[in-house]
Amino acid sequence: DTGHFTYDPGFGSTASTKSAITYIDGDKGVLLYRGYPIEQLAEKSSFLEVAYLLLNGELPKADEFAAFEHDVSHHTMLHESLKNFFQGFHHDAHPMAMLAAAVASLSAFYHDDLNVDDPADRKLAAIRLIAKMPTIAAACYRYSIGWPSRYPRNNLEYVDRFLHMMFEVPSEPLQMNPVAAKALDLLFILHADHEQNASTSTVRLVGSTGANPYASIAAGITALWGPAHGGANEAVLKQLEEIGSPDNVESAILRAKDKNDSFRLMGFGHRVYKNFDPRAKIIREMCHKVLAELGVKDPLLDVAMKLEEAALKDEYFIERKLYPNVDFYSGIIYKALGIPTEMFTVMFAIARTAGWIAHWIEQHETPGSRIGRPRQVYTGADVRDFVPTTKR
Ligand code: SDX
Repeated sequence: DTGHFTYDPGFGSTASTKSAITYIDGDKGVLLYRGYPIEQLAEKSSFLEVAYLLLNGELPKADEFAAFEHDVSHHTMLHESLKNFFQGFHHDAHPMAMLAAAVASLSAFYHDDLNVDDPADRKLAAIRLIAKMPTIAAACYRYSIGWPSRYPRNNLEYVDRFLHMMFEVPSEPLQMNPVAAKALDLLFILHADHEQNASTSTVRLVGSTGANPYASIAAGITALWGPAHGGANEAVLKQLEEIGSPDNVESAILRAKDKNDSFRLMGFGHRVYKNFDPRAKIIREMCHKVLAELGVKDPLLDVAMKLEEAALKDEYFIERKLYPNVDFYSGIIYKALGIPTEMFTVMFAIARTAGWIAHWIEQHETPGSRIGRPRQVYTGADVRDFVPTTKR
């Protein structure tokens, strides 16, 4: 038992990572961050406070939070030469490609003086990543629409600062939108961590080699991009647009059940939750509230609700315990906030950076942690002798 993976000698690996950060009960639909139920954090906390909790294991006292917030707001800037970095991309490059590359390139700016074995260096890397992700994300978006990027404003709170960098029009002062900021902060809380999901396991595996935190988080970003994982929120919106109307829901359900059709209901199902994803419940309620407060009527919400209603009554989905997951409704809210579809997974990555870096640090702090080395069940050829070309 390496403290990281437990190997079952002789029969391949039954990897079981040890972690104290997040707990999930898939049958009961329970999600706890450091023991606190996601429902309570969603109602009473803020993303930055949740980031502190994930990193430090305890909710911050007022002075601890003030110091953390000061540190984060004083590390939001990017090195000026990173601004040229985006010029190397096509204007319509997918923002996840730009995000992954930009985060990996932070290694070139901060790697030299970073000692992954020094707790202070690890903490500074966490602060830098949590602080810079919104700046990089907004820069990706502004580049894609041909607008100049905006410098982060330290006098704004975390989410307001991000929305300002995203949407501030050069020719007029941005009207801050408290409804949008509150909704986005809540979505960031809900996406902050989720135990050993594919992208977090990727960050831990890359981190276990001693790779620097920026390279490790960049690996997590690329893993998150897949449509089976964080890319699902973008895929859900595209699927809802393809279905187009509640009248087409029945045929979509039929396609999702057809084994000869690769069509899956995006935003449905989960490797762990065999009950409602507690985050999906919160986001579904938020959807109605936020769209009403913003005065947005989105016909896709009617399609989503009809799809959910039909699937939850259908034998195929009931039998397989397929419920809406965190990605099913989140895109409808992002869209109402004016965030373009291809930026949805970037939103997920901003939030999940808090969890990723907390896991990366936890692994370094776990005594006896060694390089991750998953094993396999070999299914290839038996041992055999080489055959010269003339005899093949
Ligand atoms: C996230 O791991 C995490 O914690 C991830 C995440 C996090 O916070 O980090 O929660 C975020 O990634 C959520 C998941 C987002 N992905 C999607 O919404 C994509 C659509 N969902 C599926 O592709 C699927 O449900 C997965 C990828 C999520 C899980 O895939 P599995 O493990 O193959 O699903 P399963 O084994 O539980 O499936 C059991 C059956 C299979 O059919 P049978 O072979 O038994 O006949 O259900 C079927 C699957 O084909 N199935 C679906 C389906 N999901 C599973 N059929 C139709 N539509 C679907 N969405």
